[in-house]
Amino acid sequence: MHNNSHWLKQIGIGCRSAALLCCAMLVGVPSAMAGDPINGGKLYNQHCKKCHGADGKSSFPGVADFSRGEGLLKADGELQQKINNGKGMMPAFRSMLTEEEIFDVITYLRKLRR
Ligand code: HEC
Repeated sequence: MHNNSHWLKQIGIGCRSAALLCCAMLVGVPSAMAGDPINGGKLYNQHCKKCHGADGKSSFPGVADFSRGEGLLKADGELQQKINNGKGMMPAFRSMLTEEEIFDVITYLRKLRR
């Protein structure tokens, strides 16, 4: 009988960590998929506007015009990688923005298109 209760306790621990993992996924995924465009706009003005312009129309030649949807025909994950790692003259934002903040900015970028 002693052995039996020990075994049940182990199952209990297993279930609890599985439930935690499940919760972490439920909380993490929607916030990543549906970013906050208001926070994204704030971050954009702080970090991106100087190069990409207030409305996504860059003053640099050859840079994607977000107001025409250029450079955004990619999955969020791919854009996130680009912003994380930088590209050409664009700095890497990996150390400046969290993953969630980058998704917020991407959500904002997608709203710039008219
Ligand atoms: C120092 C100027 C600068 C800053 C700051 C900057 N960018 Fe860029 N960005 C560029 C340039 C230049 C390119 C074009 C790079 C190339 O194609 O070689 C670019 C390209 C991009 C692209 C298109 C990538 C592609 O695959 O074509 C995205 C998306 C982007 N930037 C998002 C952002 C976001 C979001 C921020 C702010 C978090 C930001 N950028 C900040 C200069 C900048």
